[in-house]
Amino acid sequence: MSETFDVIVIGSGPGGYVCALRAAQLGLKVACVEKRATLGGTCLNIGCIPSKALLQSSENFHATMHAWKDHGIVLDGVKLDLARMQARKGEVVEANVKGVEFLFKKNKVTWLKGAGRITAPGKVAVNGAEYAAKHIVIATGSESMPLPGVDVDETTIVTSTGALELDKVPDHLVVIGGGVIGLELGSVWRRLGAQVTVIEFLDRLIPGNDGEVAKHFQRILTKQGMKFRLSTKVTGAVKGNEGVTLTVEPAKGGASEQIKADVVLLSIGRRAYTEALGLQDVGVATDERGRVKTNGHYATNVPGIYAIGDVIAGPMLAHKAEDEGVALAELLAGQAGHVNYDVIPGVVYTWPEVAALGKTEEELKAAGTAYNVGKFPFTANGRARAMGDTDGFVKILADKKTDRILGAHIVGPDAGTLIAELAVAMEFGASAEDVARTCHAHPSLNEAVKEAALAVEGRALHI
Ligand code: FAD
Ligand code: NAI
Repeated sequence: MSETFDVIVIGSGPGGYVCALRAAQLGLKVACVEKRATLGGTCLNIGCIPSKALLQSSENFHATMHAWKDHGIVLDGVKLDLARMQARKGEVVEANVKGVEFLFKKNKVTWLKGAGRITAPGKVAVNGAEYAAKHIVIATGSESMPLPGVDVDETTIVTSTGALELDKVPDHLVVIGGGVIGLELGSVWRRLGAQVTVIEFLDRLIPGNDGEVAKHFQRILTKQGMKFRLSTKVTGAVKGNEGVTLTVEPAKGGASEQIKADVVLLSIGRRAYTEALGLQDVGVATDERGRVKTNGHYATNVPGIYAIGDVIAGPMLAHKAEDEGVALAELLAGQAGHVNYDVIPGVVYTWPEVAALGKTEEELKAAGTAYNVGKFPFTANGRARAMGDTDGFVKILADKKTDRILGAHIVGPDAGTLIAELAVAMEFGASAEDVARTCHAHPSLNEAVKEAALAVEGRALHI
């Protein structure tokens, strides 16, 4: 037995590294096992950070080519240097993953390099050595979901990982799955010049989001040139010399047809990743979707083994994983860690962005909750007009009796940032009236949030 720790965290994604840092801050002796060459997990290496770097660069390119003319800025001979764009993305990732390594050193978290395997409660094997720990935290994240008949090679049929690495803009990118990854990465390549067709099994995009928002969002993306085939399923993909031929048919069955693509992005969801972790050997229970089962305190059925992040139930989001990491570290240190699952924002980082928080209208209807709706369009917001970004609206759902905010949904410029004030409001149990009576700076996009709050009682001022 090599060394003993209070906590060994397996996986250094936003769940694992944040749990390790918080536990170390609280005075525990902590190690984090990571098999990837760099720390930071899916999010920093092949997820949130590289995708946002490319979203920003492609948006800059697109604005330079198109939107800035409206502002009186005329640039001739604008060219794409994709190699430089990809290199910059790499630099952004490197700065972030190095940052985590620095934080580990600063907080005296030991990085155990290699794949971790739980050999018994309290024991983790890494690279032939065995380490002991009072507490083991599984934070091994998730992986892309496969689709039978669509074999990923990460060059012509890619997951998000390959879609972030393309060295040429495809003529035609076909995206399977109209969810977050498909629309974010579809936007990247659309802005850089690809024709993009999204094939979605359901009759709508971004399931789980408010239906009205999703419809409006689809209209905006259609205006941007994206094409959609809803209620359609892919039954096979054949690679040839010139790209891929996909066979598709109506989701409910019917005549099939073929669609040609240069590159296919498979983005139909992600699933928990627990490969070679030894869960079965130690008897850690998983659910029907392979996720590690935990109780309200992140404990598995095996004493001393816990799990957080994408590998357990709940939204697969970096900030959800981080907050669980903090809560669990605090619980392990004898404090009262807690995550409020009713107030976890979800953001699609396209332009405009889509941000969701709390209940959707569909969920309130299904639960029989009486509610009021306050809506305000960005066309009536002075700042949005000045920016030239008037697509979208803010929608606030409040309890009919108490006026307490139950949900908020925004499609529009910087929606992901705007939603934060409503998250704070909900965390404090605020009413729409509380937000409506808060002084908001003028001219700001946040005034649209205030006006939507006023609109809950039918008294928006600027519409
Ligand atoms: P992960 O980040 O998946 O980390 C798990 C780590 O564990 C990995 O590094 C893996 O190598 C390691 N590991 C696994 N098994 C072992 C083992 N046996 N031994 C050692 N190490 C092991 N979320 C957002 O909130 N915002 C976004 O903008 C966003 N964008 C995304 C874009 C893309 C393209 C993708 C794919 C995901 C995105 N996500 C985003 C989701 C986000 O990345 C995840 O929710 C988040 O990374 C989950 O964190 P985690 O710590 O649970 O796991
Ligand atoms: P997703 O769950 O967001 O979307 C998958 C889509 O594929 C759904 O619309 C679903 O109906 C559709 N689908 C499923 N099977 C299909 C099939 N056979 N044919 C056609 N369509 C099919 O999953 P996605 O986009 O892969 O992302 C995975 C997760 O990663 C997300 O759930 C999210 O939690 C996380 N993520 C978060 C981001 C963010 O916060 N900005 C960005 C990217 C990913």
